Amino acid sequence: MDVLPTIAQVRQARRRAGPLGFVPTMGFLHAGHLSLVERARAECGAVAVSIFVNPTQFGPNEDLSRYPRDMERDLRLLRDAGVDFVFTPQPAEIYPQGFEASIDMGAVTRVLEGASRPGHFAGVATVVAKLFNIVQPSRAYFGQKDAQQCVVVRRLVRDLDIPVEVIVAPTVREADGLAMSSRNSYLTPDQRAEAPVVYQALSAARTLFDAGERDAQALRHAMLAHIATARLADPDYVSVADPQTLAELDTVEEGALLSMAVRFGKTRLIDNLVLPPSPEPRNGGLSA
Ligand code: PAJ
Repeated sequence: MDVLPTIAQVRQARRRAGPLGFVPTMGFLHAGHLSLVERARAECGAVAVSIFVNPTQFGPNEDLSRYPRDMERDLRLLRDAGVDFVFTPQPAEIYPQGFEASIDMGAVTRVLEGASRPGHFAGVATVVAKLFNIVQPSRAYFGQKDAQQCVVVRRLVRDLDIPVEVIVAPTVREADGLAMSSRNSYLTPDQRAEAPVVYQALSAARTLFDAGERDAQALRHAMLAHIATARLADPDYVSVADPQTLAELDTVEEGALLSMAVRFGKTRLIDNLVLPPSPEPRNGGLSA
């Protein structure tokens, strides 16, 4: 496995590879990241991963300086997973003196995570566009865990005609339902014990939907009521939204995106769940 810190090295390695699968990450890898690598390994002739803690997607009061890092362990895991090359740039390689570009992907970046984290998705869209141009993958793999990021990246590729196929893979969870995240390492034992309430709240809303509830506000209230049972959990938002536009819904539709951000002390966790399509009516949809 080649570890390549410069753009020039990546361009050279890319020329040698055939159809290439690409998994962009910020490192401190866990089973969620590795599930994307495995999927790429299964579907593409060669696999590239980037490890870059992108400063422009962190707000001034966010966790850039304390974001967890362990490059040695990450490289070991990627070598074991059969990755062909890893792009490990320093910030100056990506953002040299004089860099000023920023990609604004519009309305979908101003709700949910974007409302709580202004500028976050401009940072994500810009770095992902650069990484796509540097690595030039055939396919790129993203996790459903960051549902809004997936929406933003799909629109980026569509609106800017970037020739890459975006694949979204399911969220990998701990045994108790907590979505895997590098940020879980910040949780105190007490906070970690309560953190599964996030997925439980999403699941409670899905149970209501399965029972026939179609009032989106009822699902939001159910999620908030569930979060309120955890002493250390402080909800930032709960949402029932259209999966493409991310606009909040009044009436819940099949395929709707349930999502939330919840603070445990200084640590902010996000999770989401896509509602299943309604079961086919038994009479094939014809009214009796
Ligand atoms: P990072 O948080 O390191 O995540 C890298 C990829 O792993 C993302 O596509 C994310 O959705 C996915 N991922 C994280 N946790 C997951 C889980 N539990 N199950 C499945 N997939 C999971 O997302 C970023 O980095 C950055 O924003 C990046 C795209 C690299 C741009 O800087």
